[in-house]
Amino acid sequence: MANATDHLWMHFTRMASYSAGEVPTIVRGDGAYVWDAQGRRYLDGLAGLFVVNAGHGRTELAEAAAKQAGELAYFPLWSYAHPTAIELAEKVAALAPGDLNRVFFTTGGSEAVEAAWKLARAYFKRTGKPTKYKVVSRYIAYHGTSMGALSITGLPGIKTDFEPLVPGGIKVPNTNFYRAPEHGDDPEAFGRWAADEIGRAIEREGPDTVAAVFLEPVQNSGGCFPPPPGYFQRVREICDAYDVLLVSDEVICSWGRLGEYFGATRYGYQPDIITTAKGITSGYAPLGAMIASDRLMEPFLSETGMFAHGVTFGGHPVSCAVALANLEVFARENLVGHVRANEGAFRSTLEKLTDLPIVGDVRGDGYFYGIELVKDKATRETFDEAESERLLRGFLSTALFQAGLYCRADDRGDPVVQLAPPLIAGQQQFDEIEQILRTVLTEAWSRL
Ligand SMILES: Cc1ncc(COP(=O)(O)O)c(C=O)c1O
Repeated sequence: MANATDHLWMHFTRMASYSAGEVPTIVRGDGAYVWDAQGRRYLDGLAGLFVVNAGHGRTELAEAAAKQAGELAYFPLWSYAHPTAIELAEKVAALAPGDLNRVFFTTGGSEAVEAAWKLARAYFKRTGKPTKYKVVSRYIAYHGTSMGALSITGLPGIKTDFEPLVPGGIKVPNTNFYRAPEHGDDPEAFGRWAADEIGRAIEREGPDTVAAVFLEPVQNSGGCFPPPPGYFQRVREICDAYDVLLVSDEVICSWGRLGEYFGATRYGYQPDIITTAKGITSGYAPLGAMIASDRLMEPFLSETGMFAHGVTFGGHPVSCAVALANLEVFARENLVGHVRANEGAFRSTLEKLTDLPIVGDVRGDGYFYGIELVKDKATRETFDEAESERLLRGFLSTALFQAGLYCRADDRGDPVVQLAPPLIAGQQQFDEIEQILRTVLTEAWSRL
C-alpha cells in the first residue's frame, strides 16, 4: 500500500529501504499460507514470527475472542480475577513440567522475561540472599527488547544504541556445534564444555551475585542451536550447586514448536521458571506468561507479601479465551503429535539442500530449523560483512519472498535462513520450501 511508510513505524525495519519500493502488505491468511494486498500467495515459513502455530484462518479462535469481548472485554488481574485467566492458568500449570504451577500472565515475551528476572531478584531478597541479582545468558541469544530483557539479550548490534543497560547481564558461549571452539567432533564433550562455561562464569562473578541463568531450549538467534546431549542436565546440576535459578525462555520453543508443549519436556530438564508467549494463542490475540515453581511463589504468600509487579493488559480476558480455544484445537487435532510424527520428514527434506555449495549446515528440531550459508563448505568460511549485506539484505529475503516463501534470512550471527512453519504443515509444504530454497540459493551462489 502506497501510504504504508507515511505514519507506520515498523519494528526492526530499515524504513529507508522502502522509500522507493512498496512495503509488502499481508491482508489474509489460511492454513500455512498468507496473501498480500495484490492477491499473491506465500507459504508462511515462519508462522508469522514463530507465532501462528495452529495456522491461519481459524474462525473458531476469532469467535472465541468475539464471544469473550461481548461478555467481558476487560478486567485487570490486579486483586481481581476473571474466569478465562483462572481456567487458562490451571491448564498451563497442568501442561508445564514438574511443579511449575504458578502462572503470571503478561502481554508478550519481553514482559515475561522481565517478570522472570524481577521474580528471581525479589525471591533472593526475600530468602536471605539479597546480593544475588545477575543473569547469565548466551552470546547471540535474543530474549526481547525491554531494558531488562535487552540486557539479557546477547546481540551487541541491537543493544549499543540504548546503553547503558541494566547492570548484571553476563554472557557465556552458546551451543553452536557447527562452529564449536572446542570438542567439534564430540557433541557430548562440547555440551559438557558449554555447560561448564556457565559454571565458570558464575564462579568468576561470585555465586552470591548470580540470580538466574536464562536459556532457550533451542537458541533461535544465530540459527537454531539445539542443546548437545547432556547439556541441560549439566546446567541443572550447576544451577543447583550455586543456588541459581534456571529459566527456560520458551517464547518460541513451547506450544508444539519442538513436538512437545514445552521445550524443557523435550530435552528432559526441569526449569525453575518458563517464560512463554507467541504460540500460546497462535497469535489470534497477544499473550505471554511467566510460569514459576511453587517454591518461588512461597515467599510472596505471607499475609502482607506481594510480587510488586504487573501490567494492565497481562492476562487480558480476550487473550485468555483465545488461548483456551487454541489449546482445544491443539488437543483435538493432536498438533504436538503431528509435529513429532512429521519432524523427521521436515528434517530430511531440508537436508536435501546440503548438496548445494552454499549450504553449510542444517540444524534444529521439531518444526524449527536454521540453514547456515557459507562461502566455502570445506573450510566453513563465512561471508564478510559486505557479502552478507549483499546476499541477505540485498538479495535473499526479497528473492525468497518473490518466489512465494516468507521466512527469515538472518545475519545477527553467521548468515542463516530460518524456518518455523505453522504446525499443521506437512510434506507438501516441506517440498515447496525445499524447492523454493533450492532455486533461490542456487541463484544466490551464482551472484557471489
Ligand atoms: C526467546 C525469546 N524471548 C523473548 C522474546 C521477546 O518476545 P516479545 O517480542 O513478545 O516481547 C522473543 C521474541 O522473539 C524470543 O524469541
